[in-house]
Amino acid sequence: MDGNGRWARQRGLPRIEGHRQGVEAVRTVLETAWELGIRQITLYAFSAENWKRPAEEVGALMGLLEWFLKRETARLVANRIRLRTIGRIEELPDSVQRVLAEAITATAGFTEHTLVLALNYGARREVADAARAYAAAVVAGHERLETASWDAFSRYLETADLPDPDLVIRTSGETRLSNFLLLQSAYAEFVFTPVLWPDFGKAELTAAVAEYARRERRFGKTSEQLAPTT
Ligand code: IPE
Ligand code: MG
Repeated sequence: MDGNGRWARQRGLPRIEGHRQGVEAVRTVLETAWELGIRQITLYAFSAENWKRPAEEVGALMGLLEWFLKRETARLVANRIRLRTIGRIEELPDSVQRVLAEAITATAGFTEHTLVLALNYGARREVADAARAYAAAVVAGHERLETASWDAFSRYLETADLPDPDLVIRTSGETRLSNFLLLQSAYAEFVFTPVLWPDFGKAELTAAVAEYARRERRFGKTSEQLAPTT
């Protein structure tokens, strides 16, 4: 979700106003996603690298996150949406951790839809942590090095029980992954749009999903192999 700062600057507003508007975009995008039949959506809300921003902006982002969670928990429950997180939650402010825990507990039983918030998340760190845990499991005799495989290893990622993304959307004209779900996105389709996140709404998400539907996902095969044989 990129482009909040530029959205604000274009209007002569402080950056935080862009983030505030970005939260409104989140609500619209989520509503549209569930309407479109999307069952899981991951929002890269705060990266492990975002701590490098000015303390004032980090504080404002944490405040917004807390406010968003307080406001949205009832709606998540009403719509039967399970909330999950990836990233080092334990490094977030206590007040944020508390509302997160409440929302996660309140929605834990739902299975239809999942909202994953990537908070203090970084893919390389996730992979390094998983490698360490996998190695420890080998040492402890719970895993066998001889049968090491992607399937075995991926159970040590934070996303172990979540499906891989089919579609990754990046807004604001940037065309990089910025350490987002690097391994899980191995076969994802990518849509890059110049639209700034606060302006990303129903029309933009619907267009991105339509673009996804036009793509042919071959997973290494040829087009001919995918064509139905009659
Ligand atoms: C949102 O956009 C990113 C976060 C929520 C951390 P930016 O704040 O990166 O916006 P730009 O790139 O300055 O426009
Ligand atoms: Mg940015």
